Amino acid sequence: MLFKRYILFTLLYGDETYQIKTFAGEYDDLRELINKQIQPPNFGRCDGMGRCATCMVAIQPVNPANKPDLNLSCQLPINDELANKVFSILPYTP
Ligand code: FES
Repeated sequence: MLFKRYILFTLLYGDETYQIKTFAGEYDDLRELINKQIQPPNFGRCDGMGRCATCMVAIQPVNPANKPDLNLSCQLPINDELANKVFSILPYTP
């Protein structure tokens, strides 16, 4: 019997906190997961082509003295590297 290994992490958007439970292969990348589960307006406008920068997330550091690590969520595959991290979805500013 085959078991799915779940990946758990946290998304912050505005004043909301989302506890995410997913598994490798459920979504192509973090952008797709965010668009399907949270649907922020104007998020990921180029559908993951890496051209629009509207899918930015900040990975919150374990040590609050460090700066968050900024990433394009369309370049983050859903895998164990996301586990137990906290991501802030950055607002789109035209
Ligand atoms: S969706 Fe456009 S850069 Fe990520």
